[in-house]
Amino acid sequence: MRKKIVAGNWKMNKTYSEAVPLMYEIKDLLWKSKKAESVIKIIVPPYLYIHDFYETAKGLKNLFVGGQNCAYEESGAYTGEVSASMLKSVGANYIIIGHSERRSFFKETNAELKKKTDITLKQGLTPIFCIGETKEKREANEHFNVVETQISESLFHLSTEEFQKCVLAYEPVWAIGTGLTATSAQAQEMHHYIRSLIEKKYSKPVSDNISILYGGSCNEKNAAELFACPDVDGGLIGGAALKAKEFVEIIHSIPQ
Ligand code: 13P
Repeated sequence: MRKKIVAGNWKMNKTYSEAVPLMYEIKDLLWKSKKAESVIKIIVPPYLYIHDFYETAKGLKNLFVGGQNCAYEESGAYTGEVSASMLKSVGANYIIIGHSERRSFFKETNAELKKKTDITLKQGLTPIFCIGETKEKREANEHFNVVETQISESLFHLSTEEFQKCVLAYEPVWAIGTGLTATSAQAQEMHHYIRSLIEKKYSKPVSDNISILYGGSCNEKNAAELFACPDVDGGLIGGAALKAKEFVEIIHSIPQ
């Protein structure tokens, strides 16, 4: 059974005094919601707030905390970096790897992302591995190739057992923070394509069981249509995850 997941990537937003009440607001709304119970909900705040949020999230069914990135080495003289084991030690269960903002602003390569995935899995954490094409690549009709390269260079060295532990997130770069959501047909087409790559590399049961999230201007208005696509298993939400009511409405858009 594929897991239904909604993750909120807070990116570099909210000071501590803004973040704590927002986390409580989300938790309070989730407490009251029967509908949200079965959905896996992941809050991915800046590193600094992970431990607090982990404590706050405790006791609420299927509510987890994650990191937005991790170092590609396990420990050592890497000033400013945060390791997967440190994230685990403060309560993170998930780590976003390969977000397009990491790839573009911080020049993260498929080879580095491969190392980050390995380290995340080694710690027993779940990578939420992001893939997606730029506007230029889509216009040049190269979007399928881009996604295939991202997946094959960073993930296809994994054993079946390891690969099954990953979550994927298709986030077309042109849709992130732009208000330009992929249509449900575009999302479904790419998610289906990703599943076909996985089937070819691993097997049909593996491709059938992996969760693939959609991200990119997903909000409370368009979530239901996107999540209704047969190959879309939830969302990785940016801007709309910073408003408690909207975020919980997105969670409620997962088909029951
Ligand atoms: P937006 O929802 O703000 O477009 O961001 C999506 C995203 O990048 C989530 O990781």
